[in-house]
Amino acid sequence: MGCLVLTQMSKAASAKPAKNKRSTFAIVILAAGKGTRLKSRHPKVLHEIAGKPLLAHVVAAAMQVVPAQNIFVIIGHEAEKVRSALEATGIGFVLQSEQSGTGHAMMQAREALRGFQHVLVLSGDVPLIAPATISRVRDFHIANHAAMTILTAEPLDPTGYGRVFRRVVKGKESDDVERIVEQKALRGKETERREINSGIYAFATGPLYAHIGKLGTDNPHHEYYLTDLAELLRKSKERVLALPAEDSHEVSGVNTRMELAQLDAQLRAKKARELMLAGTTIFRPDSCDIDADVEIGTDTVIEPFVQLIGKTKIGTDCRIRSYSVITNCEIGDNVLIQPGCILEDSVVRNRAQLGPYSHLRPGSDIGESAHIGNFVETKKTRLGKGSKANHLSYLGDSEIGEGVNVGAGTITCNYDGVHKHKTVIEDGAFIGSDATLVAPVRIGRGSYVGAASCITDDVPEDALAVGRGRQVTKEGWAGQRRAQIKSPSK
Ligand code: UD1
Ligand code: CA
Repeated sequence: MGCLVLTQMSKAASAKPAKNKRSTFAIVILAAGKGTRLKSRHPKVLHEIAGKPLLAHVVAAAMQVVPAQNIFVIIGHEAEKVRSALEATGIGFVLQSEQSGTGHAMMQAREALRGFQHVLVLSGDVPLIAPATISRVRDFHIANHAAMTILTAEPLDPTGYGRVFRRVVKGKESDDVERIVEQKALRGKETERREINSGIYAFATGPLYAHIGKLGTDNPHHEYYLTDLAELLRKSKERVLALPAEDSHEVSGVNTRMELAQLDAQLRAKKARELMLAGTTIFRPDSCDIDADVEIGTDTVIEPFVQLIGKTKIGTDCRIRSYSVITNCEIGDNVLIQPGCILEDSVVRNRAQLGPYSHLRPGSDIGESAHIGNFVETKKTRLGKGSKANHLSYLGDSEIGEGVNVGAGTITCNYDGVHKHKTVIEDGAFIGSDATLVAPVRIGRGSYVGAASCITDDVPEDALAVGRGRQVTKEGWAGQRRAQIKSPSK
């Protein structure tokens, strides 16, 4: 069987392994499968819960237990996509080019695991596993000199999981495992067995690779099942132990879209609980989507139906009103975000106010106490301290100073069809409503731009610029027109 160990590319990978006996522990994460039951065109382990791929959750937990260079992910289905999603972590990858089962996946890891005494096996589709549980499996495994330790659980509904059968000694179940039976192979009374195989194991690499070659494919999927090693090792007089998980939720697997949604809800509920315990008010936590990496300060209030995505960071004493979606933003303290705002890759500084219905596109920087109001869109724009753009504007590629008033309907014309150009509005300028500022253009400090002006030339400091046609008034015109319509012959 061919084996290819793909190189570790990042800086972290070149760091020296930690010099303690735990560094003889590697972690392998099985992630090569297609995930047929999700009915997806994308790899299963890249499906997201709480805003992060399933596999990224598992890798993050593993990295709390062993250094990155001791972690190997088995990839196969859409291998390159999976690898590039996780490459930056500095972990290693092993290619399983044909996905012939979990046992076959571990056969591919043989080279990568040379020199490691023990290996913990995690599943890329069992994402809630906690670092403390991984360490517990490792410590139990070492302390009991086991060849294989199986983390087990008794969930309310064990359907779909392999079941763990223990040796019965004097009428009592012992820690020793007889065998693992997959759901499809359960017969008669066996279907009542509640103890499941979590798919998380510790192996001593010696016995693992001494016996892995004996695995067969005599099962409904014609695959090499890693689970069959329990019986194989036991028959070779090796110790195979079961260790029940303290929290069965932690070992829930994702095989279907329903399970994906359940685990997502579970993680988000946990995140909301943590935030509330740390001093954030979330009125309807079940209606909000808050990603795992979001940070929120104390006394900030999150109203119902808010989404906080990616690496968003919110300060203290803010209020985020309903239906706002905030992605990768840094929000200061005492900020008010009115309903329906969409914010992306932007900064909002202390005491600023947004919305309702403001749209901050990437690169917006809204200054201290500044206001962005109804239907205002910004992109790559810095708005200085105390400046206001309260109604119906587009501000793109602009540098706007402090104390500026941007009137309703002001548009920066930043694009000439080929290039983007910059608009600069200096401190204290007043832009009348419905101005169009044709970039590149500079509006000088303290100057005025008349309403409805089309500004194509720079405006000097303290000047008034008016760029519009003069008003023409024809007295009596409308009356004459009406009379003409009533009796056209005259
Ligand atoms: C597996 C276990 C089952 C256990 C369950 C826990 C086997 C035979 N069964 O079943 O006892 O209760 O996990 O969640 O192991 N994978 C590969 N290469 C392959 C096949 C799978 O890397 O050739 C990976 C998958 O991407 C996945 C993991 O191994 O991350 C488990 O595979 P999956 O097909 O989901 O196994 P289950 O049927 O859930
Ligand atoms: Ca699974």
